[in-house]
Amino acid sequence: MSERIAVIEGDGIGQEVVPAAIEVLEAVAPSFEFVAGDAGDAVKAATGEALPAETYELAADADATLFGAAGETAAEVILPLRDAVDSFVNVRPAKAYPGVDALRPETDVVFLRENTEGVYAGHETRLSDDLSTLTRVVTGSASRELAEYACEFVAERRGPAHRDGFTVVHKANVMRETDGRFKRTVHAVADDHGVDADEELMDAFATKLPLDPTQYGVVVCPNLAGDVLSDLAAGLVGGLGLLPSANVGHDNALFEPVHGTAPDIAGEGVANPTAAVLSAAMLLEYLGHAAAGERVRSAVETVLSDGPRTGDLGGDATTAAVTAAIVDRV
Ligand code: NAI
Ligand code: MG
Repeated sequence: MSERIAVIEGDGIGQEVVPAAIEVLEAVAPSFEFVAGDAGDAVKAATGEALPAETYELAADADATLFGAAGETAAEVILPLRDAVDSFVNVRPAKAYPGVDALRPETDVVFLRENTEGVYAGHETRLSDDLSTLTRVVTGSASRELAEYACEFVAERRGPAHRDGFTVVHKANVMRETDGRFKRTVHAVADDHGVDADEELMDAFATKLPLDPTQYGVVVCPNLAGDVLSDLAAGLVGGLGLLPSANVGHDNALFEPVHGTAPDIAGEGVANPTAAVLSAAMLLEYLGHAAAGERVRSAVETVLSDGPRTGDLGGDATTAAVTAAIVDRV
């Protein structure tokens, strides 16, 4: 293992949970080379740029990147960083763990979210003092790429075991052209691969997921829907402190907790490092270190079940204490 990992902590609790994840990585992958890059609100205040060109290049050239979170500049940082690693899919698992007081302890879903277009493509226009518009972008090529990844994902059984195939979540009954294209393309790819794909309208999904999460396993959805619905799933499993994510590209990837900078607790040393540490486990698996990834995952599960726990999970442990317990068990 001599891979080069770009480390971008960003703002707020990014500066607390990313070092925690690095500590865990150092325990299981001692020959990783970590290279730090700056990004976020503080960098913008100092230099005028939230994402310096050096940091973009750092992520583009690394074998993988671990990112924390950026505050008000989040869009200026994470959207270009996703571009730097050429990411076309955002993988967001939401799983309830034993020992965590989850609203729906049976939840085990993985969102595969389109990561380049939809309403996040950046085409917003102010036409007058009273009128602003947004152009939603959906291409067959991006939808196809996402669907092909999803087919591979379920064929390799990387999703939850309780469901075969995947569910396409969309709103094609209203957005007939854009989500119509998305839905048709994803289904066509699923058919080609012999993958069983059902579908759900996204508003109905938002009701049905909390009522019975076991109906779903792998969920394939457009950009905005994936952002919102995965946060909904976070609420079912015990909060944002638990959700990792991967922005996967063709030859590069960036891993980050789903949560933001948590200004309400930043600087206090009490952030839950679980989401960042599980993001590091996804990084290990992406780089082919499956056994190391599994060691991290199982250490996290043990600590979630036995404690210590941070405040968001009803405990009173610090980030450092939880991290030390995880390192101890790997
Ligand atoms: P947030 O995720 O930062 O916080 C939401 C709530 O969850 C807060 O009460 C926070 O304390 C709690 N929380 C989040 N992560 C936690 C953890 N690891 N341990 C314990 N509690 C945790 O979302 P919010 O408040 O909407 O946004 C705060 C800032 O973060 C904003 O400036 C926003 O732009 C930015 N943000 C950045 C993201 C990114 O860089 N990818 C993603 C989401 C938000
Ligand atoms: Mg979000």
